Amino acid sequence: MIGFTRALVLLHRTFRRHPLAQRVHILGRFLTAPFLRTLGLVPVGARVLDVGAGHGLLARLLVEERASEVVAVDPDLRKILTAWNDPRVRFVAGFDPCIRGTFDAVTVYDVLYRLSPQDRDALIARMRDRLEPGGILVIKDLDPGARIKARWNRMQERVADFFHLTAGNYGENDSPEAMRGRLERAGFDEIEQRRIDNGYAHAHIVYVARKRYHRQA
Ligand SMILES: C[S@@+](CC[C@H](N)C(=O)[O-])C[C@H]1O[C@@H](n2cnc3c(N)ncnc32)[C@H](O)[C@@H]1O
Repeated sequence: MIGFTRALVLLHRTFRRHPLAQRVHILGRFLTAPFLRTLGLVPVGARVLDVGAGHGLLARLLVEERASEVVAVDPDLRKILTAWNDPRVRFVAGFDPCIRGTFDAVTVYDVLYRLSPQDRDALIARMRDRLEPGGILVIKDLDPGARIKARWNRMQERVADFFHLTAGNYGENDSPEAMRGRLERAGFDEIEQRRIDNGYAHAHIVYVARKRYHRQA
């Protein structure tokens, strides 16, 4: 699996022509979120849909290491219009309902807490529709149960909202129980969760859920 230094070099090559402010933002994301700890969850050769892809940091790492292709969708034109070129990655400016077809894996990193509770359920249900039977949904979120880390995150997100740095508005993160409930209601199976925040200031948590081969009656 790609190591920290190689990933840093790869990201530097990919984003070196981006405006300085965006490069700082992307580097900040990479240093403060454990992207590398989640890459192995995506099957090798998978066709991936990354929802709320931002600048495509995850897409970059995924096509380098695991995925055969990535469709990266985000409604924020400031991020998506400065997209980089790679034949294996397609950037789409918009919301996920504009995506058709099915994928082996769907990734949703630090997006759900920017949606209202009802919109979170609706997005998870749509992600199920975008998956092949047996495909996996990988959600990276933050665990609100870790009080001090959650308080730090809340403050950062409110600053980001104040300066309109990210689309949507910050809402509380779902507890692991609430997230599991959403995934079960949407018909996902084999739901697993794991804290991946050791050494990080934020309480990063990853959820992996599989779409059943056949929906039970
Ligand atoms: C914290 S950023 C994470 C970006 C990227 N996933 C990453 O991990 O670097 C949240 C992203 O969610 C996007 N977003 C906000 N509302 C959204 C929605 N309703 N559907 C999809 N993406 C959304 C924002 O534009 C932003 O790029």
